[in-house]
Amino acid sequence: MGTFIVIEGIDGAGKSTQAKLLAEWFEKKGYEVVLTKEPTDTAFGKLIRRLVLTGGKEGIIDGARISHEAEALLFAADRAEHVHKLIKPSLEAGKVVISDRYFYSSLAYQWARGLDLEWLIDLNRFAIRPDLVILLDLPVKESMKRINGRSIKTEFDKIVELQKKVRENYLELAGRFPEIKIVNAMASVEDIHNDIVALVEHELFKK
Ligand SMILES: Nc1ncnc2c1ncn2[C@@H]1O[C@H](COP(=O)(O)OP(=O)(O)OP(=O)(O)O)[C@@H](O)[C@H]1O
Ligand SMILES: [Mg+2]
Repeated sequence: MGTFIVIEGIDGAGKSTQAKLLAEWFEKKGYEVVLTKEPTDTAFGKLIRRLVLTGGKEGIIDGARISHEAEALLFAADRAEHVHKLIKPSLEAGKVVISDRYFYSSLAYQWARGLDLEWLIDLNRFAIRPDLVILLDLPVKESMKRINGRSIKTEFDKIVELQKKVRENYLELAGRFPEIKIVNAMASVEDIHNDIVALVEHELFKK
């Protein structure tokens, strides 16, 4: 079996930046790496990308409101395809799989949008548990500064409120899922990368 690492955190925490650096670090060490993300590029993922979030209210796809439950099921369907078509076969082939977001995102975000956490955990029970989940934690104000300028498909003040709740949820999930390790994401890109590498070596290679 290979190694499965997930990078999590609120919007703009630096997940994609750090996932790429970690993938390069493993590649330099000679590992075969699969760098992937959620939502995926499958049909379900593309549908999710058309979803416009509106704070605590129902999301909208192509002008039509969809319920929070349908939204959660859509993310779960995309994840099921991700697990069965890519993650599981890659791990079975002995590769290192690094995923930019995974089911912890569904728990943190959909819970913040009012769904029942236990239902969300049950819904995602099919998802292979990663060996290590890196939670990039930082204040919402800072993450907003980083993605300022990037178009966010949401009303601005509503998203700040939602992100604050999501950050709290992630921290609470870290107390429940022992594979989640919190990394302070308020540092430089390089310092954060070094912290992640130290965690990987400590947690996975027991150095
Ligand atoms: N440690 C850092 N300090 C300052 N800026 C950073 C840092 N890490 C990443 N950035 C910048 O912040 C922005 C967001 O980073 P990135 O895209 O990696 O975040 P993300 O968590 O993947 O965001 P999203 O959730 O929207 O996909 C980018 O412009 C990136 O260059
Ligand atoms: Mg990203």
